Amino acid sequence: MAILRQEQVPLRAYTTLKTGGFAQYLIGVHTTKELEEALMFATAKQLPYLILGGGSNLLVGDAGFPGVVIKIEQKGIEYTDVPHEENYVWLTAQAGECLDEVIEGSVARDLWGLENLSAIPGTVGATPVQNVGAYGVEVSDRIVSVRAYHMPTKIEKVFSNKDCNFLYRDSFFKTVSGQEYIITAVTFQLEKKSTPKISYADLANFFGSTIPTVVKVREAVIAVRSKKFPNWQVVGTAGSFFKNPIVPREVGEALHVQYPALTYYAVDQNTVKIPLGFVLDKVCGLKGFTKGPVRLYEAQALVLVHDGTATAADIVEFVKIISAKVYEATHIVIEPEVRFINVTQ
Ligand code: EPU
Repeated sequence: MAILRQEQVPLRAYTTLKTGGFAQYLIGVHTTKELEEALMFATAKQLPYLILGGGSNLLVGDAGFPGVVIKIEQKGIEYTDVPHEENYVWLTAQAGECLDEVIEGSVARDLWGLENLSAIPGTVGATPVQNVGAYGVEVSDRIVSVRAYHMPTKIEKVFSNKDCNFLYRDSFFKTVSGQEYIITAVTFQLEKKSTPKISYADLANFFGSTIPTVVKVREAVIAVRSKKFPNWQVVGTAGSFFKNPIVPREVGEALHVQYPALTYYAVDQNTVKIPLGFVLDKVCGLKGFTKGPVRLYEAQALVLVHDGTATAADIVEFVKIISAKVYEATHIVIEPEVRFINVTQ
């Protein structure tokens, strides 16, 4: 069957930030063969392509994407027992599966591992790229392997966890060579019996001394997130807009002395990760800061939201103001976590 191609598609309808221009072409692909056909179409037209999952971490420029947007829609979930490992189950999900639906299914089977990542928008295939994480768990803690299609050779390759070079919100798939690959499936290792990972402050406060089931952990994560994050189905948002900065240890220590409530996490011997949400809120007083249609969310200052009318240019201008204010107060250079596509800066 020939692939379905749409022309002049508004990308605001395909991103949770709900802004930006049009895609010249949009093609949804359901199999590796369709993916190959879509890439061949882009090559024949001499157009660039953009791989799109759930669109929950993208800022598309107002000029849109003058090329071929390939939307990954491969579906399928498979559970397999692990030979000689009674307690483990491997879950393989195709790249186009919705992450939260996958987690809902694994939790319903009483399998541990992904519950702390509940309610994160987006597709499975996007999760290894930026090593998605929340509430003390990163997907890299659970990934056994990642299957990806190598465009230059047209061959699918299986990457082990180690091959992926996972770091905080980073992986091999963000590098120049990594961008030659399109992720087609991810295998996660889950456990039949495990101890809940609830030491992250929000969950520790939620549970106190109770030891929850996996179902309860998922419910708690959803409850905590719904208080901190706006509903992306209603407003324009991409969750945390910036990365938490990794700074020299002395910088973290100095901030902690000045603001004892600020806790930082060791990355290695010399560097620490600091909570930018805290800095934006308590150090810079920017929680709720508004400029035109864009603002920092009242319940979580790291989250940028807009009222549905912002252009990408409005967001870029806002980001420049915020970055300058943080730099002025702390001399820390901050970086977006969200990926910019064809954005004029
Ligand atoms: N804080 C404030 N004021 C704020 C926001 C945060 O004081 O307005 C303080 C909090 O009280 C806490 C600290 O800053 O002491 C950290 O805040 P929080 O626990 O909410 O987490 P975060 O570091 O802001 C990260 C991830 C989120 C993830 C949460 C929970 C990044 C960039 N963000 O946010 O991931 O859900 O932890 O684990 O690492 C995402 O990547 O898009 C994302 C939503």
